Amino acid sequence: MKSFLSLISLSTLAASSAIQHPLHDVSDPQAPISTKALVSSRALQDHITAENLLKRAKHLYEIAKLGTEQYGHPTRVIGSGGHIGTLEYIYETLSEFSDYYYISNQTFSAVVGDVFESRLNLGDKSPASARPMSLTPPTKNRDVVYGPLVLVANQGCDASDYPSSTSGSIALILRGVCSFGAKSEAAGKAGAIAAVVYNNWPGSLSGTLEKPSKYHVATFGISNEDAQPYLKDLKDGKTIHSSAYIDSVVEDVATVNIVAQTKGGDQDNCVMLGGHSDSVGEGPGINDDGTGTLTLLEIASHLVNYDVQNCVRFAWWAGEEEGLLGSDYYVSQLSEEENLKIRLFMDYDMLASPNYAYQVYDARNAINPVGSQELRDLYTDFYTSHGLNYTYIPFDGRSDYDAFIKNGIPGGGIATGAEGIKTPKEVEMFGGVAGDWYDPCYHQLCDDVSNVALDAWEVNAKLVSHSVAAYAISFDGFPKRTSIKNNAVGEDYLYHGPKLIV
Ligand SMILES: *[C@@H]1O[C@H](CO)[C@@H](O)[C@H](O)[C@H]1NC(C)=O
Ligand SMILES: *[C@@H]1O[C@H](CO)[C@@H](O)[C@H](O)[C@H]1NC(C)=O
Ligand SMILES: [Zn+2]
Repeated sequence: MKSFLSLISLSTLAASSAIQHPLHDVSDPQAPISTKALVSSRALQDHITAENLLKRAKHLYEIAKLGTEQYGHPTRVIGSGGHIGTLEYIYETLSEFSDYYYISNQTFSAVVGDVFESRLNLGDKSPASARPMSLTPPTKNRDVVYGPLVLVANQGCDASDYPSSTSGSIALILRGVCSFGAKSEAAGKAGAIAAVVYNNWPGSLSGTLEKPSKYHVATFGISNEDAQPYLKDLKDGKTIHSSAYIDSVVEDVATVNIVAQTKGGDQDNCVMLGGHSDSVGEGPGINDDGTGTLTLLEIASHLVNYDVQNCVRFAWWAGEEEGLLGSDYYVSQLSEEENLKIRLFMDYDMLASPNYAYQVYDARNAINPVGSQELRDLYTDFYTSHGLNYTYIPFDGRSDYDAFIKNGIPGGGIATGAEGIKTPKEVEMFGGVAGDWYDPCYHQLCDDVSNVALDAWEVNAKLVSHSVAAYAISFDGFPKRTSIKNNAVGEDYLYHGPKLIV
């Protein structure tokens, strides 16, 4: 307790003594008088009902329809009417509580890509697994380009891997070692007119080039199986006349992170939590991440009934689906001093998948910022104490915690599953259907109001409430921040956001 008190500022001390002594001198107009009770986990959880969550989900779906004019179906992808409507809904909801929160917009420029059409012909066949990479540039003049297929040495990460015959050709490159973006760039520098990355594992390959580069060329992924006949023919010295076509755009759009921070509580010691306000272009994103977005909004609107001892900072990130753009930008803009005020970051993305498992990111102090494991244990203790099962899932860069843990901030979170496949063992643990995706509508048009498991959502929204209340009350026993260094295992991550990058 002593060490806790020494951390907090004088003004906060005055505020907290007002909480402890409600009969404090009311004649002093300067004295911060609080008639609110200190938040408790139980009280905050008690505000959560499946009915309220469902009501918000229905409203969000109506907002997603604002994307129809431009996209032909409901969506909340950044730049769409559905996303702008989502931001307005979040902002307006918070504005009702502007005496309780500091509310801010953080505008930033995000890169978005759209592939309208694509075709790849290698020899006289079109590999069934061919997928254009996200953020790929179009082929020259958005037209078909022709050239021989040329096999690149090793994994195509070095200029010396590219034979001189690469110029004017379609480069065939093995996945691995460096990112897809680095391969596309190296192929472009070697004069290739397109690039095809083939998987080093069974199965098809779809990924992202991540950040535009003027050297990128139109890039596809194909499966390892589809590549085999070509590899054999190329090694036998045969020429494979090929063609590639991608019509796409890569452009910048201005978008917005919204952040709300309690005016009360120690402003130098904050618990931060976030969900992403955007969806993919393919659908309305009610589970991904309407559930996280709305859970935060619901909790933010009930927290106002209580006092907090530590500041609580909510964030709604934009551009998560394009590669964690909003959260990356936010963390990149923090000074060292501001970074150190964030005691931990909690990520809430996809809380109610229809074929759910209760998943906890396996964040560990040995490889992640110290404190990440204490947060992980808060989640597992909650499930255990409610007689619920949980599984650990990789903490590998697929959502908005990434920039935090790479900049020294402890992080973690919960989820309920995306395109992973539920095992028979997990059916025993959670019910549902073995062999199906956790979210069969992941990144699709059917991620609508019917695509949320209300029972799981209610449980998880209560757990989010618990996490907020626990740290809003105290950081006693929670490791202090010491460094903003990258002490995450980051370098080995296959993901940066929902798509493969390597
Ligand atoms: C912040 O962004 C929201 C949503 O786009 C908008 O409605 C609001 O007017 C903005 N507020 C300010 C102060 O810029
Ligand atoms: C937890 O999993 C076990 C199987 O490992 C199962 O028997 C039990 O019913 C599950 N509990 C719940 C609440 O589903
Ligand atoms: Zn998501």
